[in-house]
Amino acid sequence: MQTELLTTSEEDVKRAGAILRGGGLVAFPTETVYGLGANALDDEAAAKIYAAKGRPSDNPLIVHVAHKSEVAPLVKSVPPDAKKLMDAFFPGPISIIMQKSEKIGKTVSGGLHTVAIRMPENEDARRIIAAAGVPVCAPSANTSGKPSPTCAEHVKDDMLGRIDAIVDGGACRVGVESTVVTVADGEPVILRPGAVTKEMMEKVLGKPVSVARAVTEGMKENETAASPGMKYKHYAPKAKVVIVDADQPTYEAFVNSRAEPGVWALCFADDRVNVPCIRLGHAGDDGEQAHRLFAALREFDKNGAKKVYARMPGKSGVAMAVYNRLIRAAAFDILDLNKPFTLGLTGPTGAGKSYAAKALAKRGFQIISADEAARRVTEKGSPVLKELCKAFGEDILLQNGELDRKKLAERAFAAPDKTQLLNAITHPAILKTAREARTQPLTVFDAPQLFESGAEKDCFKTVCVLAGEKTRKARIMARDEIGEEAAERRMAAQFDEAFFVSHTDFALTSEDGDDIEAQIDKILEAIL
Ligand code: TXA
Ligand code: MG
Repeated sequence: MQTELLTTSEEDVKRAGAILRGGGLVAFPTETVYGLGANALDDEAAAKIYAAKGRPSDNPLIVHVAHKSEVAPLVKSVPPDAKKLMDAFFPGPISIIMQKSEKIGKTVSGGLHTVAIRMPENEDARRIIAAAGVPVCAPSANTSGKPSPTCAEHVKDDMLGRIDAIVDGGACRVGVESTVVTVADGEPVILRPGAVTKEMMEKVLGKPVSVARAVTEGMKENETAASPGMKYKHYAPKAKVVIVDADQPTYEAFVNSRAEPGVWALCFADDRVNVPCIRLGHAGDDGEQAHRLFAALREFDKNGAKKVYARMPGKSGVAMAVYNRLIRAAAFDILDLNKPFTLGLTGPTGAGKSYAAKALAKRGFQIISADEAARRVTEKGSPVLKELCKAFGEDILLQNGELDRKKLAERAFAAPDKTQLLNAITHPAILKTAREARTQPLTVFDAPQLFESGAEKDCFKTVCVLAGEKTRKARIMARDEIGEEAAERRMAAQFDEAFFVSHTDFALTSEDGDDIEAQIDKILEAIL
């Protein structure tokens, strides 16, 4: 099919209108993103949209009107909240879902009993709809799964040869799709955030407006979608996108430590990164970020980016819309560097944790050892040591006033309540010291008692290192120069393998001959 390239001239707008009225497909500019329009009263025309986009047929289309007076015939009734929202925000970047009338066919509504209505603010969009003389149903004019197009070039990249015409009206003002809000089942709920914000709607309606959970958290398995569009993969560039939740210096340090071919940053205007980057805009300017987001995502693909580390946008106002799109581009992958530790490394004694820690150190992680922190907080004269003496007896001290670790271990591991006492005295101080030791964005907390101490809450992800009992026993005996029985006692005081496996995010095995380096690489590939 030959796609006509049209302008916004009087003549071309008439031509676009005629194509739409005749059942053809026309891509046209709106203030949000480019739409792929068809006659909304003609289900056969609407069906062509699904084919051109490769869109699942249960995902309904938004119906666009040029005048407010066109709304009433398309819906069963206009509820009071919808009326208020229309008065305040039509024309504008908002789509309001109401019960549909029989004028809206099954294809347009994706089989639902509702319809989303939108009156675009963009004048060329309204001229085209008016020229068509019918309401125009239009999804974003991208191939399904790609970022929405914010200029005619993007539409051409996806749709040339697949549709009848493209009207070039320049860049879209907003850059993310309209706010989708439903009033079809009573109280208003935002199904997709956009430039008309929750805060703006609350002001107009004089009551709270809720946000569907899937907006920020994605769909859980088996959850039915309030809006079918929620369940489909969206805005996915070919590169793996990871959202990095961190303050500016931590983000910079992290990205700069990951500099490798194929690594890009999607950052704010002032971020000092030394990998290739696309700047979304100024940190506080969510309008600018929304405006640039989709073009940026397309740009990464053009440049062959393999991994994109994106700065975390805000979550309120228009930033909620940016966050909602970006988190889908990232397949909900967020690296939380606000936690004291990125990786918690644990496992039963003798399993080979220190070897894994060394492998992580080679890959740029700062290793913070719980054992070392424990030594520091129980130094001669320390408050913790004094408390230990009170609890376990003065004779846990050596002649020189230092802690006799072997003796303390004997007493503390003799009975479960003694072990608990030891933990209650030492763990809080160990955790505090360990947290304060952090100087790098990527940190491993190497802690045999990661769970007993509650430190796993400080970790973004947890990894356990496992090895068979025989292997561990041999290693402990050799390492600590102790007999078989003492080694067995130590092993018995710990959680079993099943516990570690079920409580950590990743497990690696460290039997003699296992390739720990390769296992570590695989884990890091999954989280970084
Ligand atoms: O800004 C926009 O809204 C653009 C421009 C072209 O107007 N259009 C757009 O349409 O983004 P589309 O189809 O790409 O996204 C519409 C979203 C989809 O997630 C769809 O599932 C949801 O709105 N939606 C449409 N009608 C609905 C309905 N009756 N009930 C629930 N969700 C609906
Ligand atoms: Mg879309």
